Amino acid sequence: MSEFAVMNELAVESAAEKDIAIRFQHVSKEYDGNVAVNNISFDIFRSEFVCLIGSSGGGKTTLLKMVNGLIEPTSGDVFVDGKNVRDQDLILLRRNIGYAIQGSVLFPHMCVEENIAYVPSLWNGDDHTRTKAAVRKWTGIVGLDESLLDRYPDELSGGQRQRVGIARALAASPSILLMDEPFGAVDAITRSQLQRELRRIFDETGITVVFVTHDIQEALRLATKIAVVDGGALQQYSTPEELVAHPATDFVHRLVASR
Ligand SMILES: Nc1ncnc2c1ncn2[C@@H]1O[C@H](COP(=O)(O)OP(=O)(O)OP(=O)(O)O)[C@@H](O)[C@H]1O
Ligand SMILES: [Mg+2]
Repeated sequence: MSEFAVMNELAVESAAEKDIAIRFQHVSKEYDGNVAVNNISFDIFRSEFVCLIGSSGGGKTTLLKMVNGLIEPTSGDVFVDGKNVRDQDLILLRRNIGYAIQGSVLFPHMCVEENIAYVPSLWNGDDHTRTKAAVRKWTGIVGLDESLLDRYPDELSGGQRQRVGIARALAASPSILLMDEPFGAVDAITRSQLQRELRRIFDETGITVVFVTHDIQEALRLATKIAVVDGGALQQYSTPEELVAHPATDFVHRLVASR
């Protein structure tokens, strides 16, 4: 290879490195000697919508929680924006990473408005008009009625709580959004509406999304890349089209055939 070609290759490599939002590098997790995640490596590029899918107990939630440091790998490393999660101030790290889970955990002593305003008000300080505008914007986007803003979490339905959780996560303008079965507790119509909204937000903001689901239809509809995780191992990581056309393992084959 000529010197020029080598330099060119290096340049390409470092440009690609810069575009990596999340890197799992030989990541394993054991609980009391039981392997939950087994030597998983893959990269998630910026502005990618990655769905993690697989059977129950396969290791999806464990992988997701390694990104914001809620779970530490037994071995291997997770990098966010090129920095090892192990070396980071987790409070600062989490400020940049939205996290929405099924039955979202809201601050119980704060009303809906205060929940959603939590992070924007840290930035806006005394500029309450700006914070209020941010709350209204996200309330509208997730389809939450403004009449609910004064309610407390225990005065909401499960689906309403879920929307508040998503609005709160997005209002923080994170560059990465982690979602663990976020639409689990809503009816089919609401679910497809939320899917559409999320996909729109993704298309408009260039945010990086990692989304855990059991639903292959949902994954095929939303994802730019799908990571199939089963028995703690990465079965396949590819575009939806590639997954359907060329399932890499029996498990992926059955998953795709079940749709
Ligand atoms: N704190 C823990 N202590 C012991 N074992 C755990 C713990 N958390 C998870 N596990 C085990 O690790 C494995 C992976 O769990 P994980 O929650 O990542 O699966 P999952 O793919 O998210 O499953 P589901 O689809 O049911 O949410 C499971 O066998 C689970 O029982
Ligand atoms: Mg899970």
